[in-house]
Amino acid sequence: MAGIFNLKFSSILLVLCVLALANHGHALDEERKLYIVYMGNLDGKYKLPSSHHINILQEVVDISLVRQSLVRSYTRSFNGFAAYLTPQEQEKLADHEEVASIFPSKTFQLQTTRSWDFMGFPENVQRNPTVESDTIIGSFSDKGFGPPPKKWKGECKGGSNFTCNNKLIGARFYGSDSARDTEGHGTHTASTAAGSIVKGASFYGIAEGTARGAVPSSRIAAYKVCSESGCLAADILAAFDDAIADGVDLITISIGGNTPEALQNDPISIGSFHASQKGILVIQSAGNSGYRSLASVAPWIFTVAASTIDRGIVTKVVLGNGSILTGKSVNRFKLNGTTFPLVYGKEVSSSEQCDEEWAKTCQDGCLQKNLVKGKIVLCDSFSGRQEALRAGALGSIGLGGVNISFVVPLSASALTKGDFSLVQSYVNSTKAPKVDILPSESTQNLDAPRVASFSSRGPNSIVPDILKPDVTAPGVEILAAFSPKASPSEILSDKASVNYSILSGTSMSCPHVAGAAAYIKSLHPDWSPSAIKSALMTTAWKMNVEHNQDDTEFAYGSGHIDPVKAADPGLVYETVQEDYIKMLCSLISDTSTLGNFNCSEKLKTNPKDLNYPSMTVNLGSFESNQNIPFAVKLIRTVTNVGCANSTYKVKTSVSSDYNINVNPSTLTFEKLNEKKTFEVKISGKYTGNIISAALEWSDGVHNVRSPIVVYSFY
Ligand SMILES: *[C@@H]1O[C@H](CO)[C@@H](O)[C@H](O)[C@H]1NC(C)=O
Ligand SMILES: *[C@@H]1O[C@H](CO)[C@@H](O)[C@H](O)[C@H]1NC(C)=O
Ligand SMILES: *[C@@H]1O[C@H](CO)[C@@H](O)[C@H](O)[C@H]1NC(C)=O
Ligand SMILES: *[C@@H]1O[C@H](CO)[C@@H](O)[C@H](O)[C@H]1NC(C)=O
Ligand SMILES: *[C@@H]1O[C@H](CO)[C@@H](O)[C@H](O)[C@H]1NC(C)=O
Ligand SMILES: *[C@@H]1O[C@H](CO)[C@@H](O)[C@H](O)[C@H]1NC(C)=O
Ligand SMILES: *[C@@H]1O[C@H](CO)[C@@H](O)[C@H](O)[C@H]1NC(C)=O
Ligand SMILES: *[C@@H]1O[C@H](CO)[C@@H](O)[C@H](O)[C@H]1NC(C)=O
Repeated sequence: MAGIFNLKFSSILLVLCVLALANHGHALDEERKLYIVYMGNLDGKYKLPSSHHINILQEVVDISLVRQSLVRSYTRSFNGFAAYLTPQEQEKLADHEEVASIFPSKTFQLQTTRSWDFMGFPENVQRNPTVESDTIIGSFSDKGFGPPPKKWKGECKGGSNFTCNNKLIGARFYGSDSARDTEGHGTHTASTAAGSIVKGASFYGIAEGTARGAVPSSRIAAYKVCSESGCLAADILAAFDDAIADGVDLITISIGGNTPEALQNDPISIGSFHASQKGILVIQSAGNSGYRSLASVAPWIFTVAASTIDRGIVTKVVLGNGSILTGKSVNRFKLNGTTFPLVYGKEVSSSEQCDEEWAKTCQDGCLQKNLVKGKIVLCDSFSGRQEALRAGALGSIGLGGVNISFVVPLSASALTKGDFSLVQSYVNSTKAPKVDILPSESTQNLDAPRVASFSSRGPNSIVPDILKPDVTAPGVEILAAFSPKASPSEILSDKASVNYSILSGTSMSCPHVAGAAAYIKSLHPDWSPSAIKSALMTTAWKMNVEHNQDDTEFAYGSGHIDPVKAADPGLVYETVQEDYIKMLCSLISDTSTLGNFNCSEKLKTNPKDLNYPSMTVNLGSFESNQNIPFAVKLIRTVTNVGCANSTYKVKTSVSSDYNINVNPSTLTFEKLNEKKTFEVKISGKYTGNIISAALEWSDGVHNVRSPIVVYSFY
């Protein structure tokens, strides 16, 4: 009986704490900041972890402030809490023996490309306010679905105007007032991973085809952790705490931070670690910050880059003199006439409102309505399209920043530098310049897959001997379901309501991999998260280096996913939780920082020897990179999941710069799930360029490929 009462008391207590914050948060001292206090595994020592959290807080926080200070208790899947603390209180808690780590609750971002549209433009360019939230609307049809599976322990708590069905079986929200999608991001990502089949889906006829998720038969549970102000770490961790306990099979999270953090100070790393412990694979977007910006670094996370697909979307511009230029945008508008007057932003701006630089790029408030009506405006920045819309222009042509098509709120096209200056000289040399912008059309991308310029690149600055990202998947100009409540061009005055839209970002590639992983899990329900990840990595398409010269493996990891091949990989590189802990112990000198994982009793594993499906060695940093001799050794173990009796032979890439030696070079298996260990020796002279090599086991049917990367920080 007592247990039952305790349990009730515990959950009520948690609710009260949240309410107390909402009502009295302002009473807390200004200098307090929100921190996450991570305490490792739930060890069952305390019947009521949340009241234990209060006890711990009471040791450092004035008793009258404890309830207001505590924001969240993590008690379902791991141990920890989030609380408002002063710097002194934070320091005292950091020394507490039960505390594994303590770090500020940062704000994370969704990883669509909206802001990358503006890349490379002057500092003074006014940015779109990023109004974002992440969830799913209740429009996923459940036709043909039975009730949720028995193992499902979640709930439909989506708040007002949110209903679940047998497809969308669960919803929760954190830090906002409903799980309803007002922005479209969550709908798009969820339908990519697991949407039901829809015939003839398109965005106004553009990119028409059958829209479907990778595994149309899977169910979806939504955990909304983002609001207008971003995605708070304390909320992200709360969603992991719930999702793991609710019994999900996979977690796809298209959210990331801007700077890499130590593994024990990153909520997504912590949440994923505990998910992995429960057999749940976490798939995360690599980020959209390009060169050397990767923040998804934990080896138990599946990190996904974004690349092009063979279909691209272009918008042609026809000049009055007959020249046709191919620009980029997703343009749903048809202009009626043949051509329309073309005016340069600078010539039709108000000089009172804007100086020349602002006028050229068509900044907010520059264009004069009476001078742009019925005309197409030429702007030095493609972000000028928003101002063209406000001023009532017919259309807009601008200089594009990235080679990606964004949905536009009026007839518009982004040109390359060369084409843009051609239009400029046409305007300069023509008395009455005219132009037409055609509706978008699909083209064939012959060089696909090419990693998008925005996709975050490695190396991994936290664990330099683990290659990240892990793989790449489609993330450029992806058509998927969209919330009819949201604006497809992300411009509020664009009132179009659509059921499908075209978005780009690692946010879009991430659910592709989640879908592929769900497909493999459906064929092999007993496979561990690391086995599923290994299958997708070792069967990935080798990328064409000519089309991906920038950063090679640091851009695409093992390559482009191939879900069909991954279903039958032959061999897998498996990692158990113990392996990760041994690796963590080698990274952390202060053993107490791992909470209830006792490093002193464990062997330590060098990260290069973690049983990872890719092989990476960082040689450190050199003063000069002139022919430094090196020799390194790695250990790996493969598990046979192909044919019981099979013999694999190794093949390695060959170069005059290095030598790769694998011992043994033949692996003979007699049963399924049999394990064999081998050693890889790499030696050579390091010349300053990363060494991009590979190793492949083959039995004639299965090819099990691992990239080998040797590099130094430069
Ligand atoms: C719920 O829907 C009603 C009717 O459409 C609307 O008036 C109300 O604002 C909605 N509530 C929320 C929280 O979105
Ligand atoms: C830009 O994208 C288009 C269509 O997607 C493609 O045909 C073209 O080759 C790309 N250009 C560059 C420079 O990558
Ligand atoms: C095109 O024609 C339609 C119908 O005649 C009209 O409503 C619309 O304003 C015209 N659009 C343009 C850009 O002239
Ligand atoms: C077009 O004329 C403008 C001045 O109005 C000048 O700044 C620009 O360089 C010219 N562009 C070309 C391509 O001739
Ligand atoms: C149109 O004008 C541009 C700029 O002066 C020029 O480069 C181009 O060749 C012209 N096109 C035709 C078909 O004359
Ligand atoms: C979106 O779907 C709803 C419900 O099926 C339908 O009523 C509506 O017309 C669709 N909107 C568009 C733009 O096709
Ligand atoms: C960790 O191991 C050391 C040495 O064996 C021991 O003194 C210490 O109490 C252990 N800590 C925990 C949290 O188990
Ligand atoms: C594998 O080979 C062993 C020894 O040759 C044999 O006993 C066994 O039956 C074979 N297993 C299968 C599944 O063919």
